Amino acid sequence: MEAISAYAICRFSDIPSQRAIGFHLMILDEDGTPRPWPIVVIRWGKQVFGYVNRCPHNGVNLDWERNQFLDTNGTRLMCGKHGSTFELGTGACVDGPCKGQTLTPIALAVLDGDICVTGMRLVEDDGVGGDEGA
Ligand code: FES
Repeated sequence: MEAISAYAICRFSDIPSQRAIGFHLMILDEDGTPRPWPIVVIRWGKQVFGYVNRCPHNGVNLDWERNQFLDTNGTRLMCGKHGSTFELGTGACVDGPCKGQTLTPIALAVLDGDICVTGMRLVEDDGVGGDEGA
């Protein structure tokens, strides 16, 4: 059986508490084909949550302005297109056109101070990483 890999995507300390940041990663499909995999990572105190950055309503990225993922209260994720809002801890849409649907969760782990994606085959590339700027 193949060992489960963990890919560090940023330092835990790179995301302030109660903030969300998007990453444009690439994964390998089962047949080895690379495919873009945009995700959003939210830090809340010592917890991290991650979802595929794709609204269940129209399949668009949630952040219409880069890294603007949270609603005005900063307590839910919000899609910039039609304003659906999602619980941070579950990804469930609680208001808006896709109410009742859920963001696709991703498995994250914090290892040695790094936030890591687990259970996926990522394309490793020095150019891949956070898009939060320098
Ligand atoms: S595309 Fe996200 S709420 Fe419509």
